[in-house]
Amino acid sequence: MTTEPATILSMSGLAPEDVRLLRKLGETARAREVGAYVVGGVVRDLLLGGDVGDLDVVVEERAQDFVEAATREIGGTYKLYARFGTALLLPGGGVKVDVATARSETYAAPGALPDVEPGTISEDLVRRDFTLNAMAASILPDDFGRLVDLHHGREDLRDGVLRVLHEGSFTDDPTRVLRAVRFHARFGFSIEPTTEALLHQSAGSGALDTVSGERIMNELVLMLAETDPRPALLKLLTWNLTTAVRPCWTPGHAEVERLLAGLGPRTDGTRMTPLLALLVPVEPACRESVMDRLKAGRHLRDAVRDLGCYESRTAAALATERELSRSEIHGLLRHHSLEVLELATADNPGGRAAERIRLYTDELSKVSTLLTGADLLTIGFTEGLEVGSMLDELRRARLDGLVASRDDEMALARERLGRSGGGEAGT
Ligand code: CTP
Repeated sequence: MTTEPATILSMSGLAPEDVRLLRKLGETARAREVGAYVVGGVVRDLLLGGDVGDLDVVVEERAQDFVEAATREIGGTYKLYARFGTALLLPGGGVKVDVATARSETYAAPGALPDVEPGTISEDLVRRDFTLNAMAASILPDDFGRLVDLHHGREDLRDGVLRVLHEGSFTDDPTRVLRAVRFHARFGFSIEPTTEALLHQSAGSGALDTVSGERIMNELVLMLAETDPRPALLKLLTWNLTTAVRPCWTPGHAEVERLLAGLGPRTDGTRMTPLLALLVPVEPACRESVMDRLKAGRHLRDAVRDLGCYESRTAAALATERELSRSEIHGLLRHHSLEVLELATADNPGGRAAERIRLYTDELSKVSTLLTGADLLTIGFTEGLEVGSMLDELRRARLDGLVASRDDEMALARERLGRSGGGEAGT
């Protein structure tokens, strides 16, 4: 990479309107005689030549005072996050800028959130996770784009190395163990040997036990949001980090690898499916205990339970060599979650069960009756179960090609009504 530091903020990863906005913020900072910088992932991604996401700015004064002054000058609105002393600047046009006060941090206890004090940009950078995330670029008019790289982040970025800034980094914040996995997998970088040793030492000594389930879950969700989450998830296994989260969580690598390969880089439905792949090869009781540890939300918990239901009730029936009617396939799969169907397909993409699942998701799941519950009520069905079971029967008949038109459905419904001794009201 030959770009000179002074040109960082005009690199193509930033939209021209972002550059204009940063210049305006720089002018606000100059008028207030404070330092102001873009920091962290933005600088890293610019140096890597990629696109950057939302802008992160650090100012050497109270973020609140700075955003108030900035919005007076450039318009827009802001939100304050008093607890973190940060602000979200919304200058308009959908742009978001996170503004934080440069700060120094001390950790009262491993895994706890840090105690924060206002500080300088150098103090702010030294508390960060990895050298490649510990760079800043000034936005002041006189040195717009000047790189502040006190920890050789640029060199590590060039060499493709992930390195912590100091020995206590994983102890200060054990979620960094999981961040390391994510960056390592995303960029394909190597982990500097001391950093790797510290990571294993930290994970092996129970550092993650001090981290709340929500924070761990949050890191897993970030992994799942990667363009291809699979390398990071596999790394969790090879570094025994699932076991560090819950001792019983020791899935067989080969099975997880096979499932993830079957899923492909992205799944069609929700992004939780790749995480479920890590839970397939463990006992249901352990799955529950992992869910408890992660303080998993309802959706994930339900999907994990559904996995157990699929395994015990559906898998064998679906894979049978016997011919299954379309309505039978529908009946077997209709209550299963999308995640579980994706996983079951990934398990053996060329198998009979996968073929039936594809038929279900592409076609059968979209079949509905032409008659509605209201139509059934007008011909004399009673509300509730009776209507529900007749609609089910009509759908089965449609799936199996026994009825085609609305008249066919009506005829079948009337026949059932007659047989059950119901009235002929509404005819
Ligand atoms: N950071 C840190 N330790 C953490 C979390 C964040 O030091 N546990 C610092 C890093 O300097 C990071 C910055 O805060 O670059 C912003 O964090 P975040 O927005 O989570 O990550 P990004 O680096 O922007 O990464 P991504 O591309 O995944 O958003």
